[in-house]
Formats: sequence, C-alpha cells, structure tokens
Amino acid sequence: MYNGNTEWQITKKLSARQGGFYKMKRVAIITSSDTGYRGEREDLSGPAIREIVEKNGYEVVSEDVLPDDRKMLSERMAEIADSGTAELILTTGGTGFSPRDITPEATEDIIDRRVPGIPEAMRAYSMQFTKRAILSRGASVIRNRTLIINLPGSVKAVSESMEFLIGNIEHGLDILLGYDSECGGKLK
Ligand code: MTE
Repeated sequence: MYNGNTEWQITKKLSARQGGFYKMKRVAIITSSDTGYRGEREDLSGPAIREIVEKNGYEVVSEDVLPDDRKMLSERMAEIADSGTAELILTTGGTGFSPRDITPEATEDIIDRRVPGIPEAMRAYSMQFTKRAILSRGASVIRNRTLIINLPGSVKAVSESMEFLIGNIEHGLDILLGYDSECGGKLK
C-alpha cells in the first residue's frame, strides 16, 4: 500500500512497463505568442516553466514558440502526443479574451478525453493571487498517453499555476502511463 514513501514510488516505477528502467517524465513546452514567434518579445514564460519542472524531476524534451494560430498549435500538440515524445505538454499563453487567444480551442481540437478538474482547480487556487484568474479559459485534455495543460501567459501566472500543479498531477500521469492502477492509497 502507498505510504508516502518516495522509495516505494520509485520501486514501483522500476517494476513498471519500461523494462525495469526508471524513466523521468518528459515535458514539452509550447509558448503561444504572436510577438514571441516574430522575435519581437522574449519568451520568459516558457523558460520559467522549464526551470520549475526541471527542479521537480521532469525532463524537458522540447520548447516551441508558436504564433496564436489554431492549426499550428493543434498540429504541434498532436505531433508530440502521437509520437509519444512527451507524457506532459504544458502550453503558456493564449488563454485570455483577446481575439487572437486560441490555445484552449487548439487544444480541444485534438482531444481524446477531457480533464476539466485541472483547469477548474488551477483557477480556484489562483484566485488567492488575483481575481482575474477567472479570465483564463485554459483547458486540459488527454490525447493518447499525453496530458496537455494550458497555462496563462505571464511568468507570474505560470509560477502560481505550477505551484499548484506540480504536486497534484503526478498520480494522474502515473495512471495514464500504467505505472499505477489504483487510487486507494493515502493521498498527499
Ligand atoms: N492566473 C494566475 N495564477 N495569476 C495571474 O496573474 N492572470 C490572469 C489569468 N490567470 C493570472 C492568472 C489574467 S489577467 C488573464 S487575462 C488570463 O489569465 C489569461 O492570460 P493569457 O491570455 O496570458 O493566457
């Protein structure tokens, strides 16, 4: 039974489907920004995500800066998920109300299954920092064995959202990847 012991978790992963080899979970980061794509503004949010996930034991396998273009965003997400390159895709930006903000729609274009609880809880958690958290339309979906989560665009919003996410998605990823099959253990 799960007892909150990291060694237990690693042992379990060792015996999982990856031939006994413990593999770090891989993250692909996509920044959605017209100005970032054109080189008119430095992308600070993508690197902020990288720093946080790396500190927490994830491996960053790619970082893209794409324009707020529905087709380009959805095609890139689908490519990552379908090739099995990353278990987690974190997008930043394009979740607001501006006419060009299209990341949630691009994400939902390639959906296999919805994960509404993640953005709902992220917004609720973010309310302690700013009531404007309600203005992020970010979505979360599963495609194949990849979890995709939309984060808002600023470094501040990314840091606050990741603070909530980082400890709360691991169990879901373990189930998605087949490392874990039950939820009966003690939750942190
Ligand atoms: N969430 C957190 N945690 N912190 C923030 O500062 N900013 C909000 C919201 N979510 C914010 C946040 C604001 S002001 C907007 S407009 C939306 O995210 C959408 O941001 P985006 O268009 O950059 O994706």
